[in-house]
Amino acid sequence: LYRSRTTTTVPSFLLLGPSGAGKTSLLTLLDRGNPTPTHTSQTPSTITCALPPTHRAASARFRSSHDPTSNAPQRFHLTDTPGHGKLRHFSLDALAQLPTALKGLIFVIDSAALAAPSAGAAAGGDVGGVGAAAAVAGGEGRGGGGGGASTSSSLTEAAEYLHDVLLVLQRRHTSAKTSRGPAALPVLIAANKVDLFTALPASLVKVALEREITRVRETRGKGLLDSGVDMGGEGQSEEEERDWLGGGEGDFRLEMMEECDVFVKVVSGCVLGTEGEKEDVEEWWEWIAENM
Ligand code: GTP
Ligand code: MG
Repeated sequence: LYRSRTTTTVPSFLLLGPSGAGKTSLLTLLDRGNPTPTHTSQTPSTITCALPPTHRAASARFRSSHDPTSNAPQRFHLTDTPGHGKLRHFSLDALAQLPTALKGLIFVIDSAALAAPSAGAAAGGDVGGVGAAAAVAGGEGRGGGGGGASTSSSLTEAAEYLHDVLLVLQRRHTSAKTSRGPAALPVLIAANKVDLFTALPASLVKVALEREITRVRETRGKGLLDSGVDMGGEGQSEEEERDWLGGGEGDFRLEMMEECDVFVKVVSGCVLGTEGEKEDVEEWWEWIAENM
């Protein structure tokens, strides 16, 4: 039977996120138990990992302990992708194909690089369109905490990338031919590097991303309008709707994705520990186990 074949396929997860967020470090940690020094990735790579015995895949929780398969390591595939803007087609391609074994996306971000240089700006007052426009214009240039900008360029980059990823998932949901639609695809936003003292807690990472995606969405929307001038009016609004992330009114919230069966969760952790602190990826393991 077809169904019995699909249950034996190895579940897989895809690592996405901007350059330097810690994707490859996380992959080596999940693979070997300790992170190995990394270089900027230039091609995707896939490994097979096993869940640690302390975690049980949700799909195996009701298996009897006498079942010989219940003690076997529960394996899954993990695919690392390059985060650099110029290599991002790899991950967006991988995403467009969406293999049936794909159980979820892990979007890694550096939660220490998101805070705006001026304290509290990420969670505080609105700086308006000027800052957003400047940040978008400088989108290619990254690297450390830029001085003076009202929005961290890392935040803008992360938000643009996440926006594009979520839009692929939304389009996939809207264009699904079958009445049942594609299966729900969960997204873990792994807010990495909480060992650094400048790191934002998960709740603020979420707020900062939502706020910045709201801006990205508006900028992209304007771009569409501008480019649409030559194309004439017909069908334009439908196109626009297709490319508008989340619901219609109001600021973007990650919960809006639930309408497309995309469940997004922001969870903090760190692949490395600094100053005697240990790495902490327990909750990410738990998320993987829950979605296997
Ligand atoms: P690309 O391959 O360019 O897309 O980047 P990447 O996401 O694979 O990042 P990578 O794993 O190479 O990590 C980038 C840098 O961040 C490395 O110097 C890591 O040592 C460091 N790093 C990763 N995770 C952590 C963490 O939890 N805490 C700290 N302090 N540093 C980390
Ligand atoms: Mg890498």
